Formats: sequence, structure tokens, C-alpha cells
Amino acid sequence: MALSISSFLVVLAALALSPLCFAFPYGGPFLYPQFYDHSCPKAQEIVKSIVAKAVAKEARMAASLLRLHFHDCFVKGCDASILLDSSGTIVSEKGSIPNRNSVRGFEVIDEIKSALEKECPHTVSCADVLALAARDSTVLAGGPYWDVPLGRRDSLGASIQGSNNNIPAPNNTFQTILTKFKLKGLDLVDLVALSGSHTIGLSRCTSFRQRLYNQTGKGFPDFTLDPAYAAHLRTRCPRSGGDQNLFPLDFVSPTKFDNSYFRNLMAKTGLLSSDEILFTNNPATMHLVELYAAHNELFFQHFARSMVKMGNITPLTGNKGEIRMNCRKLNHQ
Ligand code: HEM
Ligand SMILES: *[C@@H]1O[C@H](CO)[C@@H](O)[C@H](O)[C@H]1NC(C)=O
Ligand SMILES: *[C@@H]1O[C@H](CO)[C@@H](O)[C@H](O)[C@H]1NC(C)=O
Repeated sequence: MALSISSFLVVLAALALSPLCFAFPYGGPFLYPQFYDHSCPKAQEIVKSIVAKAVAKEARMAASLLRLHFHDCFVKGCDASILLDSSGTIVSEKGSIPNRNSVRGFEVIDEIKSALEKECPHTVSCADVLALAARDSTVLAGGPYWDVPLGRRDSLGASIQGSNNNIPAPNNTFQTILTKFKLKGLDLVDLVALSGSHTIGLSRCTSFRQRLYNQTGKGFPDFTLDPAYAAHLRTRCPRSGGDQNLFPLDFVSPTKFDNSYFRNLMAKTGLLSSDEILFTNNPATMHLVELYAAHNELFFQHFARSMVKMGNITPLTGNKGEIRMNCRKLNHQ
């Protein structure tokens, strides 16, 4: 068992003291930051050192690892379902519309997992590796630190339908995106704070081209997009072709985790439609954008809090699921 006697007692005591789950600061009694303190004391250090090495080699990797945790949590909960390759009855989520030609970082997760298997075999879940790597990536890019609640277990399956349906698309309406967040227990503040992830990383031309050309016959021109910025984007995102050309989500400081993303939205230089609508569509989110643009510490605080909330989406605990030995496949397949 991964639970040591003492941490088990802590959980028991917490349960006895508080029948209501409001009493658990981490959203549930089963995830807590000390989960591996006895079973694998070096776990967090190992994850951090390998993430640091990967980000030093390529700054974008911080963004890619942060996004992996999001795309994991929105499909069947934070259970590493996104890491499974297709095999037998499993159809990999890697082939879904939001993921294909887009999500990356799997080799880094593999490297972390094999180092963990050497240090403490069959102990640290792939889902927890994703949660830790997302936090470490944020810190390495200059963003806030938070204690990561741990103890997730890994799924026994994947859901490509879930991946296609639950993860918001960049051209979804504001209402659709908010609904997709609410279905996962996240609210409007979480939506704005977590969208701040787009302060780092890159997007392909295909994810925002619709904003640049009159292709659907409606909603053009996009008055929420600065015309000079649009012209600049068109130079490398042509009407057809160049689908995979890459653009910074935050052109001001593409590898720095800061609040310039929110200032961009106020200047109509958000890259994705899903970014810009946070400022243009709704007074409540507009107010939050303005607050974060003016107060970096508030953004950092809310971001950390919302990341913990996102990381708590329906984890597998107890004897559910398994601790995968190789994140790409089930233990018995
Ligand atoms: C609110 C709804 C969201 C939408 C519609 C959305 C959509 C997108 C799209 C279209 C891209 C570019 C993908 C590509 O073209 O290859 C992207 C990149 C990214 N997203 Fe989101 N996203 C959302 C929320 C989030 C959240 C909640 C997080 C993290 C907590 C996140 C983290 C990232 C990161 C870090 C990147 C850059 C990845 C890289 O460079 O590899 N996004 N997102
Ligand atoms: C959103 O983008 C997808 C993929 O490019 C496209 O198939 C779909 O028609 C777009 N939806 C709207 C409402 O424009
Ligand atoms: C966009 O295209 C539609 C039909 O394809 C046309 O009726 C409309 O006038 C165009 N709008 C602009 C602003 O060019």
C-alpha cells in the first residue's frame, strides 16, 4: 500500500473531525501533498529535475506539459488517460481533434516515469506525474508555486469521444466554453484564471485562421482583433496552407509566465477567439481580465487555486484504476 500508517492516521483524524468535505482544503480527503512522503520521498525532486532539464533544452516544453494536465483532467478526470497509446480496445486520446498534431511532451513524461520506477517501483502514478510536471513547468516559466495534492491513480481506459467533446475548442462560443468548464465543476473565475496559461506556449495557424479571413461568411471582420496585429498574423498564416505554422499565444513574452496575456486581451491582441472573448463578451470576465492585467499577484493566487481545483477533477483513488508502470500502456495488456 502506498499509504503509510501515519498518513493513514492523518486521513482518519481528518475524516473524524469533519464529516463535511468543505473541511478538506484540497477538495477531497483522498488527495494530499504528502502522499509520497514515505513511499517515495524523492518523487517530487525527481519530477522537478527532469522537467527542469527538458525546459532548459526547450522553453516551450513548460507550456506543453502544463497543457497535458488540462487535457488529461477534462477527460474522465485527472487519470493519465491522455497518455495511453492505442492498443487492443484502447483508442488513444492522442488522435482526438484537440490533441492531434498539437499535444506534446510525452517523451518527457516517459523519462520521468522511468526514473521514478527505478527509485520506487510501482508507486507513483502517471496522473500525479502530470500534475507535478504542470506545477513545476509553471514555476520554471516564472509563475506561481502551489503544493500539489497527490494520490491519483491511473485509468484503465481512454475516451477519444470525451476528448473531442469536453475540451473547449478555440472557436467555441463563450457560453459553450463556460458550460464545458462548469461540467467539470469549474466556474467563471477558474475559466479566466486558467486561460492565463496562454501566457506561455504556441498555437498553430489552424487554431485561429477563422479570425483572419472571411471564410464562413459571417462574423468577419473580427472587430475584437487589432487590424495591425491581424495583418501581421496573415503574413505567416495564409488563407490556405501553413496550418502547422506556429505563433506565440502571448506575443509580448512568449516564454514568461506573467500577466501580459491579460494586457494583450485588453489591447485586442489575444490570439485565439476563445482568449479574446474573455474580454469582449461578458462584463464579469471582462472585469477579471482587467483585474489580472493590473494585479499580477492576484492572477498568480487565483491561478494556483484554480490549478488545484482542476487537478481535483474526479481522480481515481483507493483501489480504483492502477499505478501504471509504463504511462503509455496498461499493466496487463
Ligand atoms: C478555455 C478554453 C481553452 C481553449 C479553447 C484552449 C485552446 C487552445 C489552443 C487552440 C491551443 C493551441 C493548440 C495548437 O494550435 O496546437 C492551446 C494551447 C495551449 N493551451 Fe489552451 N485552451 C484553453 C484552456 C487552457 C487551459 C485551462 C490550460 C491550462 C491549464 C491551457 C494551456 C495551454 C497551453 C500551455 C498551451 C500551449 C501549448 C504548447 O505550446 O505546447 N489552455 N490552447
Ligand atoms: C470551428 O472550427 C472547426 C475546425 O476548424 C470547424 O470545423 C467548425 O466549423 C468551426 N465552428 C464554427 C462555429 O465556426
Ligand atoms: C464575406 O463573405 C460573404 C459571402 O461569402 C459576403 O456576403 C460578405 O459580404 C463578406 N464580408 C466581407 C466583410 O467581406
